[in-house]
Amino acid sequence: MSGTPTLPGHPHIARRGTTLQVEDVALDALAREHGTPLFVYSKQWMLDALAAYQRGFAGRDALICYAMKANSSLGVLRVFAEAGCGFDIVSGGELARVLAAGAEPAKVIFSGVGKTRAEMRQALTAGIGCFNVESEAEIDVLNTMALEQGQRAPVSVRINPNVDPKTHPYISTGLKGNKFGVAHDRAVAVYRHAAALPGLQVVGIDCHIGSQITESSPYLDALDRILDLVQAIEAAGVPLHHIDFGGGLGIDYDGDTPPAADALWKQLFARLDARGFGDRRILIEPGRSLVGNAGLCVTEVLYTKPGEEKNFCIVDAAMNDLPRPAMYQAFHRIVPVAERPLLPAIRYDVVGPVCESGDWLGRDRDLAVEAGDLLAVLSAGAYCMSMASNYNTRARAAEVLVSGASATLIRRRETVEDQLRTEQAL
Ligand code: LLP
Repeated sequence: MSGTPTLPGHPHIARRGTTLQVEDVALDALAREHGTPLFVYSKQWMLDALAAYQRGFAGRDALICYAMKANSSLGVLRVFAEAGCGFDIVSGGELARVLAAGAEPAKVIFSGVGKTRAEMRQALTAGIGCFNVESEAEIDVLNTMALEQGQRAPVSVRINPNVDPKTHPYISTGLKGNKFGVAHDRAVAVYRHAAALPGLQVVGIDCHIGSQITESSPYLDALDRILDLVQAIEAAGVPLHHIDFGGGLGIDYDGDTPPAADALWKQLFARLDARGFGDRRILIEPGRSLVGNAGLCVTEVLYTKPGEEKNFCIVDAAMNDLPRPAMYQAFHRIVPVAERPLLPAIRYDVVGPVCESGDWLGRDRDLAVEAGDLLAVLSAGAYCMSMASNYNTRARAAEVLVSGASATLIRRRETVEDQLRTEQAL
């Protein structure tokens, strides 16, 4: 796409001739071939995002575990598996998915507050690298499950460092009032207990403070608090092989300016070096920052509807495809696939067909569009398809992975038969 002007903040999306393209593939042609709504991802954006972390970790002992909840489509997982990543999972379903995508079990870590016994058994059998345990009760259950299987489960304890990540309350996870992790004050006692259990092998310490974090300071605060604990836990006689620092780095949705991954890790390693931990193995669990701006969703304008107070642009994507605006009042840029220089721009709320007023994708957007036009909802690579639902018996969208001039359908559009398959009328 050299020489073509790209969209600000989206180096893989450019306007060429009358259409928008992802890498070297035109979106109007993709929409004609596969229909809409259609998720389109740039493989190069994902690899570039990963490369920023890899630069930050150059010369260090580190493993990047992609938090697959952000986008767990097999085609996306395969990109990261081929690039040598590990994976952060939160369910038995994610474990099955990531193994199907070719992940190495030893590079899989299992987070989450509510692992079931069946999930523990499944993960022990697969031979995953680490369980990030989140409560004292879970530690005892995991010990029992491991002994039953004649194994020792590798564990880290997730610590709640009680720092404010300065993000949306639904995606803050490291504050005292959150359900996640073990309280900082309990950590040494919990580690002593875990280290004494015959079914467990303590291997590390873990924290994750939230998501869409756009400043370095919460990370630096959390790092200091975790390093204080590493010293205290090791002084109590429990060695820790690795430090898992979670994920959470934000992306640019609306002019947001999070630190670049390599710049952030330069700062964090300076702190680790200064405190004598520069050689320690580091794990991280980034999700959004590896995929968020790799993706967009192409949607067709079905109707424009002037209203008394608002004008509505009704599109064929909805809150079941793109749940973030409805759930977190999140902002996604929305741009026309083809520009219409002769049409006046009108201020619209861009809404979907679902029967709820909460079904909106963007509010007060100035758009020059008519029915039949295509729009691209940007920054839709993370927490969109992976959170999509069948609400209103809507089929989940198709997904295409673009690499250079090639486009691969990595998920076909769901059919109503797919949806009815698990059900039975009385
Ligand atoms: N590790 C753990 C333990 C997590 O809970 C999460 C995300 C991550 C890593 C990855 O965080 P990331 O790097 O993606 O920020 N649905 C919400 C985001 C929920 C995040 C949940 N945990 C959204 O659309 O904004």
